[in-house]
Amino acid sequence: MDSIVVTGNGPLQGEIPVAGAKNACLALMPATLLSDAPLTLTNAPRLSDIRTMTALLESLGAEVAALQGGQVLALSSHALDSQRADYDIVRKMRASILVLGPLLARYGHAEVSLPGGCAIGARPVDLHLRALEAMGAEMDLRDGYVHARAPGGLRGAIFEFPLVSVGATENVLMAATLARGTTVLKNAAREPEIVDLAQCLRRMGAQIEGEGTSTITIDGVDTLGGATHPVVADRIELGTFMLAPAIAGGSVECLGGRMDLVQSFADKLAETGVEVVQTERGLRVTRTGDRVRAANVVTEPFPGFPTDLQAQFMALMCTADGTAVLEERIFENRFMHAPELTRMGARIEVHGGTAKVTGVARLRGAPVMATDLRASVSLILAGLAAEGETVLSRVYHLDRGYERIEEKLRGCGARIERVKG
Ligand code: UD1
Repeated sequence: MDSIVVTGNGPLQGEIPVAGAKNACLALMPATLLSDAPLTLTNAPRLSDIRTMTALLESLGAEVAALQGGQVLALSSHALDSQRADYDIVRKMRASILVLGPLLARYGHAEVSLPGGCAIGARPVDLHLRALEAMGAEMDLRDGYVHARAPGGLRGAIFEFPLVSVGATENVLMAATLARGTTVLKNAAREPEIVDLAQCLRRMGAQIEGEGTSTITIDGVDTLGGATHPVVADRIELGTFMLAPAIAGGSVECLGGRMDLVQSFADKLAETGVEVVQTERGLRVTRTGDRVRAANVVTEPFPGFPTDLQAQFMALMCTADGTAVLEERIFENRFMHAPELTRMGARIEVHGGTAKVTGVARLRGAPVMATDLRASVSLILAGLAAEGETVLSRVYHLDRGYERIEEKLRGCGARIERVKG
């Protein structure tokens, strides 16, 4: 198995291009299931999660061509021959559940394996199912599968999510585009990935209003057409790269970065003493002082501080001046990176959903293990600020969500290499 070796070697200088958003792309790809006409996604990221979604769509009979080295995905569902998403693929990636809404809306039935457990908590799909039930679907959970039927077709409904869910909002948003009548989703997720999906669906002919607010209204139409849509920039990759100069010092311009995608995160960085400016080409992040100041964080749905940047921010706090309290409110059990960071000399105490991090002047390189996608990149960031060598194993977690990360960080002076194993 491959590993990644990082050697801390001081300030970074240069630029890093930000790819299209993994999470947006994983919701946009299943939108092909809603229409006979081709859907083309540009600015797609080249990641193993995208290949997993490709395999899932192909298993249903969709055609997915990765063009221009994978940056363009040409999708077509004109010859779909299955409405069953098998456990073998679904178990690899939770976002697979996003085929349920589109299949049900277009064919009136679908069988999708339940995603099962996940390293960062229980992560159920009850909200996806309840919202679709409100639209007239009948759900039967048997043999580890959701057997969903909507014999007379889905119908519009008013549904208020009891808690904000990105995936459930996306699933139901897609389903509602082909339902009979009007659907109103209340307490909907407001993430940029939802806005991106709504924009793409509108290009396909859907009638949607209110995306980006907590109430989304969808007027169902009979059929949807084709579209070409550019995937929005990845705000989590952006935030991760913004942390590289924050933790190692120096100045890096994140090309394609947009302040509106990371406002609360950028505000938090400013609180630590790091400068973030919008430039013509992206966001420039500069740390001039020796050490950043500690700052407390509470993770929240967008526009709050994203849970997907909590691990990386913790890495920064490990070397901050003072003590920071990080409260994780979206997922239970999302501090698996804490014991690994501790191996590098960090001082972290975890109590339930709260981590208290007391900064140390210097971290030390160590062999560490990736436990999930964002946890693994937090260890790379810590390695940039550590004395000596940090060797990260189980890097397949990293490859799910970061495209050419070694190359991108090397481009601004980091010493980082992948060792084939
Ligand atoms: C998406 C992102 C993930 C991010 C998360 C929160 C994708 C592919 N993944 O995940 O990177 O960390 O948003 O920003 O876009 N919940 C339920 N029942 C449900 C659905 C969710 O209880 O049916 C709970 C979850 O356990 C969690 C919370 O709701 O505690 C938020 O989860 P959700 O927003 O649905 O996350 P995902 O869409 O899975």
